[in-house]
Amino acid sequence: MIISEEQAVIILKQDGVVALPTETVYGLACNAKSKTAIEQVYKIKNRPADNPLICHFSSMDEILKEVITPADFVLALMKILSPGPVSYLLNLKPNSLLRAATAGSNKVVARIPDQENFLRMLSLLDFPLAAPSANTSGKVSPTNASMVEYDLGNKIDGIVDGGNCIIGLESTILDCTNKNKIVILRPGAIGKKEIENLLVQLELNVTVIENIISNEVTPGTKYRHYSPVTPVYKINDIHSHSFSANETLILVLQQLDEHKHFINELIQKGVMILNLGSLTEMEKIASQLFVNLKMLDEQKSVAAFMLPIDWGTSSIGMAIANRLSKVIL
Ligand code: TXA
Ligand code: MG
Repeated sequence: MIISEEQAVIILKQDGVVALPTETVYGLACNAKSKTAIEQVYKIKNRPADNPLICHFSSMDEILKEVITPADFVLALMKILSPGPVSYLLNLKPNSLLRAATAGSNKVVARIPDQENFLRMLSLLDFPLAAPSANTSGKVSPTNASMVEYDLGNKIDGIVDGGNCIIGLESTILDCTNKNKIVILRPGAIGKKEIENLLVQLELNVTVIENIISNEVTPGTKYRHYSPVTPVYKINDIHSHSFSANETLILVLQQLDEHKHFINELIQKGVMILNLGSLTEMEKIASQLFVNLKMLDEQKSVAAFMLPIDWGTSSIGMAIANRLSKVIL
């Protein structure tokens, strides 16, 4: 059910759970300090109880009320990158009520979303919003309101429709709890290169490390993510699988052009073609990626196959490759 921002604010104040748009993906939001509301989010998503929830704030000042003051380089980066698609793992103050959202952890992942509906609602609330992606645990993250409705519509108190998410991939998560280094725990639209460039501009001598997975913090790695119901397999060559009707070939525009004639034959056989878009427009591919993956299920495709794709070395390309690697069996 689509609801207005005003209705969502009332529901959130009463410990309800609503889906809200952000620039990355839709979030399943509730009062981050309310144990009752947080419990509902875990139940609705069927999320393992030890997987903490990311918290959303209206400003840096609001974040700093809850966390032990991070290093100066972290503050400098936050000033530039937030609001935006970047989240920061920070140490909580000893008495912070956000432990309700962090599954008891002394650290919180915090972010300021760059989305007008979300920011307006935060400005009307006197608490931060816990909001994991608004999907059943293990499913593809939703990037429009109808995807949320399809997956969780009958379990939640409403959806604020903010249209399509501009970025379409979840935020980059940076571990900012170290003195002289930043660890990228989850790749996203803003990556190592962008962060390193900013640090150089700011004349800060900080190392950026990618994806070091410790036992303690494992965002997006411990649990399987982003899976459509349709199984997706990798094939090395378009001829290495003999396609049947109701199967899908996933590719990019460049591959579609390269294998035009063979693909026409496949289409005549009843094989579905899922074109992710052109490699020259990676931002567009990212923003449509989860909608496209969802299409596999909507079209009741029995299996999907994907050719190797060179996603290059841009941050957005690497983030797309990361999400697809979690989809492929
Ligand atoms: O773009 C995003 O980050 C979206 C939008 C809605 O903001 N949210 C999102 O939430 O992707 P979620 O829960 O699907 O992914 C957050 C990841 C999870 O893998 C979780 O394990 C990790 O962040 N995480 C959250 N809090 C954490 C904490 N205190 N310590 C370690 N990992 C944490
Ligand atoms: Mg998620």
